[in-house]
Amino acid sequence: MNTLEINPSWMSEQWRCVEDALERWVPADAPAGLGQSMRYAVLEGGKRLRPMLVLAARRAVADARPEATLDEAALRAACAIELIHAYSLVHDDMPCMDNDVLRRGKPTVHVQFGQAQALLAGDALQALAFEVLTPCPSAIPDGLQGRLCAILARAAGHAGMAGGQAIDLASVGQDLDDASLRQMHRMKTGALLQASIELGAACGSESSVATGCLIEYGRALGVAFQVIDDILDVTADSTTLGKTAGKDAANDKPTYVSIMGLERSRRYADELLQQALQVLGRSGLRSTDWLADLAMQVVGRNH
Ligand code: IPE
Ligand code: IPE
Ligand code: MG
Ligand code: MG
Ligand code: MG
Repeated sequence: MNTLEINPSWMSEQWRCVEDALERWVPADAPAGLGQSMRYAVLEGGKRLRPMLVLAARRAVADARPEATLDEAALRAACAIELIHAYSLVHDDMPCMDNDVLRRGKPTVHVQFGQAQALLAGDALQALAFEVLTPCPSAIPDGLQGRLCAILARAAGHAGMAGGQAIDLASVGQDLDDASLRQMHRMKTGALLQASIELGAACGSESSVATGCLIEYGRALGVAFQVIDDILDVTADSTTLGKTAGKDAANDKPTYVSIMGLERSRRYADELLQQALQVLGRSGLRSTDWLADLAMQVVGRNH
């Protein structure tokens, strides 16, 4: 199990459910080795932070609608966002992007299976995410299926992760100002983290104030996550990270560390953590303990 460092028992249980579902839903029998490369990209590795955020947000809103169908929708959303994340990593590592050879402690997908297969594995994982959200037949109301698809599509596309990755590539060698750096991080990483919260919150029917607070929590955590990723790239080793350390400097990427320095970056991550915890307090929701655990782990993690 490769989940976040401190590991409360709720997390091991939820983690197991997510692993079992991914194991079932990522097909082994896709043609010409495609299934093998898809499963290699998704299974056995990864902290599963995004799925945990979906399930923790669902828990926070479940008091109002404790329905099994909505728990199933949340599990599907948890797996769907992990599939999008896994696809984004496969493409992020390719030679045309970050050119990385190590991911989740294993050779990257293009190193293992070749570039064409990596491209296709990413494509197929993205489509699979939407298939997982729209099972047929299903007790999950059509309206909710549509809403989950809309949240995921917006976060993954030009206004979210893919747009942020475009800015990342266009920013090589540039000295971005604080606002541009934050915008890039909000899109390339923050969008999927924030969407995780929105997906979980959509599987309930809380007040718009509570939902607004959860979204604010997701926004703060999304930026904090990438600040810590930038810090770890400089301070951790490749074995602990399971990916190549020192890659941002080697690729001349503007990061929080290259622009603010290590100390200011750490302080900023701590400020964002406090913001995230405070907003949970203001939400009026009772069951935000899992979300608080995750926020502390995101900022305290060592990989
Ligand atoms: C790494 O994300 C890529 C970024 C968005 C910075 P994670 O650190 O969540 O990667 P896994 O899923 O645990 O491998
Ligand atoms: C990747 O950011 C973000 C996405 C995959 C969308 P990074 O390039 O910093 O991620 P790592 O450090 O390779 O995991
Ligand atoms: Mg990158
Ligand atoms: Mg990268
Ligand atoms: Mg990084």
